[in-house]
Amino acid sequence: MLKKIVLCLLAALLIGGCVSEKEAVMSKTQSLKDAYADYFLIGNIVSGVNMDDVHYTILTSHHNIATAENAMKPQYLQGTKGVFTFDEADAIVNKALSQGLKFHGHTLAWHQQSPAWMNEGVSRDEAVANLTIHAKTVVEHFKGKVVSWDVLNEAVVDNPPNAEDWKVSLRQSPWLTAIGADYVEIVFKAAREADPAVKLYYNDYNLDNSNKATAVYNMVKDINERNPDVNGRPLIDGIGMQGHYNAHTNPGSVEDSLQRFISLGVEVSITELDVQCGEGGKQTDAQMTAQGLTYAALFNVFKKYAEHIGRVTMWGIDDSSSWRKEACPTMFNDALNPKPAFFAALDPDKFIAENSGSVETKEVKQSVAVYGTPDLADTAAWSQAPAIPIDRYLMAWQGASGTAKVLWDENSLYVLVNVNNAEMNKANQNAHEHDSVEIFIDENNGKTPYYEKDDAQYRVNFDNEATFNPASAAEGFESWASVSGRTYTVSLKIPFRTITAKEGDVIGFDAQINGASAQGARQSVAIWNDLSGASYQDTSGLGVLKLMKP
Ligand code: XIL
Repeated sequence: MLKKIVLCLLAALLIGGCVSEKEAVMSKTQSLKDAYADYFLIGNIVSGVNMDDVHYTILTSHHNIATAENAMKPQYLQGTKGVFTFDEADAIVNKALSQGLKFHGHTLAWHQQSPAWMNEGVSRDEAVANLTIHAKTVVEHFKGKVVSWDVLNEAVVDNPPNAEDWKVSLRQSPWLTAIGADYVEIVFKAAREADPAVKLYYNDYNLDNSNKATAVYNMVKDINERNPDVNGRPLIDGIGMQGHYNAHTNPGSVEDSLQRFISLGVEVSITELDVQCGEGGKQTDAQMTAQGLTYAALFNVFKKYAEHIGRVTMWGIDDSSSWRKEACPTMFNDALNPKPAFFAALDPDKFIAENSGSVETKEVKQSVAVYGTPDLADTAAWSQAPAIPIDRYLMAWQGASGTAKVLWDENSLYVLVNVNNAEMNKANQNAHEHDSVEIFIDENNGKTPYYEKDDAQYRVNFDNEATFNPASAAEGFESWASVSGRTYTVSLKIPFRTITAKEGDVIGFDAQINGASAQGARQSVAIWNDLSGASYQDTSGLGVLKLMKP
């Protein structure tokens, strides 16, 4: 008993809670950074939220490098032109260094969390000056304190159709618009000049997508071939794979991209690792195991290429402080106890041996449609139908999200979608980059890797403009839309194309929300079930809807 109390006290001191004997011992004796001492650095983020002692103890116990979650982004360091505000970032960096941690800088140029004065409504020359001055001042300020920088963050579009040409694959960001494709080289050169010793990284998400990886590969290859010797080495030192993953992520695709980047002779780091696998801030045991298996498989891939990997940094100490807390993506739970994911990362082979086969990792969400034939403008008609949350994120930005409700009759499905936090932007020439809602239907729930004749995709933007895939799906379709501030509502009448529906039928269904940025490019995608990003051509990842009568 005494031993138990001592362990409890020890655990309370160490990780801020009275945990089981096993967990306390594991937390004390098994440190993630020690387990990976011969492989790569282990990192995590520091923010205002997790600067308290308990979080900090987890940070220093298990990690040897830190990244500021927000404090070093352009908006916080130079919100007003010429006024650099380093106080918060300095406090974060100095504390970490005094505790023996290394520090990584994030980020010099990005299309998010950056002030508009830098690159909107200014000439190319002014934008170049703003970019160069920002990069040089910030890099010089942290010289000797940070070991590496994310010089440029998220400059490439998702799933680029013409990935061989990296310049046409660049995101329509304010920097690109103001300067042109050479902004990439300009910011790297400014950073190298300011501190020739610090490692310079290009950082991006969804690099397990082979098209996006191809564009990044070509960009880094081209720039380094043209700049092979800038202060003694190629201009770009490394590629950061953010790693905002989920339990459906294919570790084989992560490995393919890693191999390609390594073949360029650059260092690779995993810079923002988290694995979404939960809803509403809750996880079932099966989800925790599935999440652990994903962490384990990923760490095994990282170990295999450790010679070329600088660090593996997690994006969040614990679920409650995570930017994606709804999906419980980290290794520690709200009570700051280690989750299965922690033990999976610590010893991947052991975790896989003990858990593989025990869970179905490809979870399929289910909901119901309620019988009824509404008037599309009468949103109250859906009140009996359960709300389907559209809040799983496919991109690394959390923009618009919402809920869907579904009614059905023999001839049609009626979907009502409420969207929050939208920009109401439809400036882009691509319909999928507008603030819009997409519905995917698989009438026979065939879950095929290609579209059959019963499968279709319907898209309606906030201004009630509809697009279809295939085009024939437009027949008999109707929609209605209404905007109020930053929220909008869309209702759709989707005629069944191959069935006459009856109670008890089960169909494949998914609902997606595309969020545009104020500049008119898609910046976020939220979906109910299918995290594959392929629902427009493959129905195997859709959720399931059962047609019910009250
Ligand atoms: C996120 C932070 O975690 C949030 O606190 C903030 O509100 C938005 O940014 N890719 C990145 C990170 O490079 O900077 C982002 O961090 C997550 C996606």
